[in-house]
Amino acid sequence: MKNLYLPFKVKIVKTETLSHNVKLFRLKKDKGKFSKDKNDLVFTPGQFVLISLFGYGESPFGPASSPYESSYIDVVIRGVGTLTEALHNLKQGDEIFMRGPYGNGFPLKFIEGKDMVLVTGGCGIPPIAALIEYVRANRNKFGGVYLIYGAKTPADLLMKDRLKKWEKDIKVLLTVDEPDKEWKGYVGMVTELIDDIKINAKNAVASMCGPGPMMGALEKILRPLGISDRRIFVSLERKMQCGIGKCQHCATGDKYVCQDGPVFYFDQIDKNWD
Ligand SMILES: Cc1cc2nc3c(=O)[nH]c(=O)nc-3n(C[C@H](O)[C@H](O)[C@H](O)COP(=O)(O)OP(=O)(O)OC[C@H]3O[C@@H](n4cnc5c(N)ncnc54)[C@H](O)[C@@H]3O)c2cc1C
Ligand code: FES
Repeated sequence: MKNLYLPFKVKIVKTETLSHNVKLFRLKKDKGKFSKDKNDLVFTPGQFVLISLFGYGESPFGPASSPYESSYIDVVIRGVGTLTEALHNLKQGDEIFMRGPYGNGFPLKFIEGKDMVLVTGGCGIPPIAALIEYVRANRNKFGGVYLIYGAKTPADLLMKDRLKKWEKDIKVLLTVDEPDKEWKGYVGMVTELIDDIKINAKNAVASMCGPGPMMGALEKILRPLGISDRRIFVSLERKMQCGIGKCQHCATGDKYVCQDGPVFYFDQIDKNWD
């Protein structure tokens, strides 16, 4: 039987610099493809994989590629510390270890047939990107889909090539705090985009992942839209160690992000965003 907790080797087949401190890594299995579940998915958008590099540790990352793609998994990694900075120094052809996918992911069956507001900021885009790929592959099963994505500057907006592709299938609303000369989009808080969102609140869901302060600000956009807490799904990022509910490093309130999450109902989480 396959041991879910056993790391396996993956090769970096592509790296791409997305911003001054964020890189995309395309990872392929040493032998064969990533296995799929009964729904034909390699992972559920919102789940995470644990990536390790000998001597630097192991950390969770949310796959950003299409969950239907089994020949590779893309991860988007912000360099913030020991492991992530060591990963940033790797190049095409280098090998690292992966285990997973773990965690619950977004509730795909529940969100089908509904309008959807996806909200993200900073480096919170990977799980939302995977969810958008899922929506695009099943476009007729969803109503109006809106992506609200905020960043500090235009240079901090990640995955720009994919944002362009997504515009064909969903409404993409971008905003930055500090525009440059070329920027023609919104400037300011994501909350200012509310007038552009046309949904049927009774049949709508919201999914979000992003930095703490932005998630707090989002209450201000989702409340006036009338989406109830049990229809708002938040993907939380917490410091993890074991990844399997044993070490308590990833606690939020009385829940563990690794075991009960990383996706929670809005009213389930401790709103201390720091
Ligand atoms: C479910 C999940 C999915 C994630 N997905 C991604 C992703 O797709 N891309 C990505 O870049 N990051 C993601 N993260 C965060 C990522 O796991 C951390 O940035 C990583 O563990 C840092 O490891 P490090 O060894 O480089 O940092 P360390 O050297 O351990 O720490 C460096 C600094 O960052 C702080 N820190 C570390 N991890 C976190 C965290 N999770 N939350 C807040 N502060 C932290 C530390 O306290 C310290 O100040 C995810 C986290 C979770 C729980
Ligand atoms: S990482 Fe150990 S309990 Fe969650």
